[in-house]
Amino acid sequence: MTRAAHKDCWQAVALAADVGRRPKRILFEGAPVVLFRSDKGIAALFDRCAHRLVELSTGKVVGGEIECPYHGWRYDGEGRCTAIPGHVGELPRYRVRRYSAIERDGVVFISAGAPNSEPYLHCMQSQDVIVRRVHSSTQSTVIDAAENILDATHTHFTHKGLLRGLSAKRHIVRVEVTGGEGWVEACYTGEERQQGLISRLLEGERTKTIGRFRHPGIAELEYWGKGGLALATTFHLRQAGENIVEGVGWLIGPRQGGLGHLMALAFKPLFNIALQQDRKVLKSASDNARHAPQALPVIGPLDFLRRDIAAIMAGEMPPAALEPRVHHIEL
Ligand code: FES
Ligand SMILES: [Fe+2]
Repeated sequence: MTRAAHKDCWQAVALAADVGRRPKRILFEGAPVVLFRSDKGIAALFDRCAHRLVELSTGKVVGGEIECPYHGWRYDGEGRCTAIPGHVGELPRYRVRRYSAIERDGVVFISAGAPNSEPYLHCMQSQDVIVRRVHSSTQSTVIDAAENILDATHTHFTHKGLLRGLSAKRHIVRVEVTGGEGWVEACYTGEERQQGLISRLLEGERTKTIGRFRHPGIAELEYWGKGGLALATTFHLRQAGENIVEGVGWLIGPRQGGLGHLMALAFKPLFNIALQQDRKVLKSASDNARHAPQALPVIGPLDFLRRDIAAIMAGEMPPAALEPRVHHIEL
């Protein structure tokens, strides 16, 4: 995988519902980008007027073009300047940088390159599902946030009572780590049904749980029951700023069987509580990281995916692709 491949991939940046009549400013790879609705669909431009560098996102959308609030210059979805109010005669050719942008299943994806395929959405993509879309931001790094989502061993502490029971009872669980180009996953089997509130509400008997990381920053969890995949989350993470991770994702359940709508309704608020708990620990770690930055965090014996995620993010083959691993832990 080359750097060009990275540049040419889609990144989820916003919920489509959050880009309405007004333009929306986001940070993309450290640069401000304005999202708005042009007459050809969603558009993404460098959020800076070519004239005096004012933020275009503080202007408005007029006839599918974005109008700068300072002197009213307008730009179309391709970033071409289409109007300079007061100017008589031929228009000089000015432009601002444009990004590729598309909207799929309620989510806006953009790219600094020219992707030649559709974006990956979520792990139940071709099935009849109920989805809830979520957007959040956390003070952290993509690798720390992805690891947090996929890490089963923090749930006893960070999410005590929510994802885990209040008792300290643990069970031996088998963890199989496999991978390939651009992905790694850990499959947990032998887990008895978790005793936390979320599990009680949402699940029948659990047969396996899978945590997976995909290039470039996608973390997903799958909860499998007797009847198949019962519940899943897919989160697209990206480093929006030095210490800010933005996440756009789906909470997914099969439409048929199970608890259907009821489940989806109950899941989101509970998920939000878990998210707050995670944001708190991630912020604590992020704040603390600047003290003694030369002392790197330890990769402990239960941190199964850390090196693989780091390799994938660096465009390398994850170690698990060459050598699958099996661990036994108490969970
Ligand atoms: S700064 Fe945008 S029109 Fe002048
Ligand atoms: Fe968590």
